[in-house]
Amino acid sequence: MILAMSTFSSSIVRWQKTQGRHDLPWQGNRDPYRIWLAEIMLQQTQVSAVIPYYTRFLGQFPTIAALANASEDAVMPYWAGLGYYARARNLHKAARVIRDAHAGEFPRTLEEMVALPGIGRSTAAAIAAFAFGTRAAILDGNVKRVLARHFGMAGDIKTKAVETALWALAEAHLPRAGIEAYTQGLMDMGATLCTRTSPHCTRCPVKRTCVALAQDRIATLPGRAASKPTPHRTVQMLVLIASGEVLLEKRPSPGIWGGLWSLPEVSSGDDALVAAKKRFGVSAKLIATLPVVPHGFTHYELAITPVKFAVSARGKRAALPGLVWLNLADASAAALPAPVKRILAAL
Ligand code: ADE
Repeated sequence: MILAMSTFSSSIVRWQKTQGRHDLPWQGNRDPYRIWLAEIMLQQTQVSAVIPYYTRFLGQFPTIAALANASEDAVMPYWAGLGYYARARNLHKAARVIRDAHAGEFPRTLEEMVALPGIGRSTAAAIAAFAFGTRAAILDGNVKRVLARHFGMAGDIKTKAVETALWALAEAHLPRAGIEAYTQGLMDMGATLCTRTSPHCTRCPVKRTCVALAQDRIATLPGRAASKPTPHRTVQMLVLIASGEVLLEKRPSPGIWGGLWSLPEVSSGDDALVAAKKRFGVSAKLIATLPVVPHGFTHYELAITPVKFAVSARGKRAALPGLVWLNLADASAAALPAPVKRILAAL
């Protein structure tokens, strides 16, 4: 018996071919490395923000071998500002696994892909579909929204039960043919039509079968538990300047900004000058408390108060490993978190 393709998937395949995106920098090739890099960068970041980073990263590390043979410190500047830095550390680790355990060839099976650091079930499926034409289901945040609306799947999207049910839907509706267009089509719909607020239902290829649209439940699907207020954290950052150079400290990984260089952090209740002397042995004079720099993370809001000092004697401890004096002119090219770059640029 020949199975008919579900209207859902065939409509999306057709729509993607005529209305979807076809000119993104990672499209039009089947190089698993290029596709893998794109999928990792796109995990928590929008297309428009990814494109310049993607181009620069590929220019510097054009192959898995080039990435594997570079040091982590050489890689991080090419991710600085993109956020979620574990992605870069895992990408680099995975490149070394591919070099050492897969003879330098990106693996072809989903099982081998998910065994690599930083590649989950959905990312593996996307890479497999785009690079090898494998018929596998994706389920990222955008796709969850498309499926929950179209199939009227209620319940808190963050729960395991809803996630499991959505995976089952994603698997059940895979097309018989055209997995690349289907996978890209789901992504394109999620990003451009079936948006979180004010979706463009009139242009949707599956509007005729959409449960949320028919039952006027677009605003309440996918379901979410009542949200807790965002926690706020405050910290001070030491801006220790000695003859045009600023003291930076390597952030421990895992952790926020792990692997990046940052201004030394001091608890907001502590005396910044006392902390600077104690930790780095510097002699310094307070110049100014600078305007607060806010920075939003997924789980909290950080308010950074930079405190600027003129350093007269650098002290021995400020030459230990994990510390570096960086010429302020070089700060924009270094592996620094975005708000730290902003603080230094404003000096
Ligand atoms: N988001 C995740 N993967 C993507 C892709 N390949 N193209 C566009 N957006 C994406």
